[in-house]
Amino acid sequence: MAKRVVRSQGGYTLSVPNVQNLATSLDKSTHIPERYVRPEANVDPIARTNEIELPVIDLAKLIDPEFSKEEAAKLHRTCQEWSFFQLVNHGVPEELIKGLKANTVEFFDKPLEEKMVYKQDNNGTLQGYGQTFVLSEEQKLDWSDMFYVTTRPVALRNMKFWPTSPSTFRDNMDRYSLELTKVASCLWHYIATNLGVAPEVFEQLFKDHPQGLRFNYYPPCPEADKVIGISPHSDGSGFSILLQINDVQGLQIRKDGEWIAVSALPNALIVNLGDVTEVLSNGIYKSIEHRAMINTQHPRISLVAFHGPDNSVMLRPLPEVVGEGKLNYGSMSYQEFIKVLFNKKLEGKSVIEKLKL
Ligand code: OGA
Ligand code: NI
Repeated sequence: MAKRVVRSQGGYTLSVPNVQNLATSLDKSTHIPERYVRPEANVDPIARTNEIELPVIDLAKLIDPEFSKEEAAKLHRTCQEWSFFQLVNHGVPEELIKGLKANTVEFFDKPLEEKMVYKQDNNGTLQGYGQTFVLSEEQKLDWSDMFYVTTRPVALRNMKFWPTSPSTFRDNMDRYSLELTKVASCLWHYIATNLGVAPEVFEQLFKDHPQGLRFNYYPPCPEADKVIGISPHSDGSGFSILLQINDVQGLQIRKDGEWIAVSALPNALIVNLGDVTEVLSNGIYKSIEHRAMINTQHPRISLVAFHGPDNSVMLRPLPEVVGEGKLNYGSMSYQEFIKVLFNKKLEGKSVIEKLKL
């Protein structure tokens, strides 16, 4: 009988083994523990690997009066058809990205005991080093470790979880967090305008730029085709901005029912729309389901910045978007939404399904 955890006030997750350590202990001939074997990993074949050119949005064009209208129209089409794009000319300094990438690699390369200084608070904010979304002893596990910190509003930072080594890590995280607020403001401005909503409405919803950084570490696996790095899910954010920390690919998106392996231009930011945008836009834009897969040789590292609304926001389709039309989603406070999200396993678009009318 599956033991299930009673819904807690904050986010809850069971402690499970460190996957990076587990991976190091396996040699090529050993089988992985049953709990990581995912029969569904290869049920849906990957379609069109590397054939698909991901839409590219150019932020410099978006803000240039000469090209803005055309690029904003492209953004609108991309949000409708893909919910997923790579952003170039985003203005985040290259030396900052380079520094943060080096810091992240160095952090995960440290011995387990050193990382465990930042061990996850697994019944509350879920900040720190560990795993998330594990709610029962029987649940299958993802082949990854993660490290999460709340970065904004700045008042909600808990410096206990911010690594002091490498010595530039904290500062680079802080700078990157700030740079992404500029990118986010700009994207929200054009997303609002494209939806026919005053940009101030979005500014209010995303006041103080609530933001969290999730560093994902996907170790290689001798039976890579049997495991999943991160289970299929949509993000509970307004949008998420992903940076590939190393050049190893593994991200896949579900488009028109098929899994598509995606790769990005070097230093492009990968943006994907989350459930919050789906609700606010009354489904004009949809959140996109994605997952990460594993290879036999190389660790893969990614950094995902979640940009959500203020906790006090009531999630519901914006009246300006719905107009006289049909309301497609009910309402729920963002606080409640987050609670539902973090108290169940990751499972496709299951959270937003609850809100559909
Ligand atoms: C996530 C996520 C994908 C990746 O952290 O929400 O979807 O490629 N990560 O790491
Ligand atoms: Ni995600």
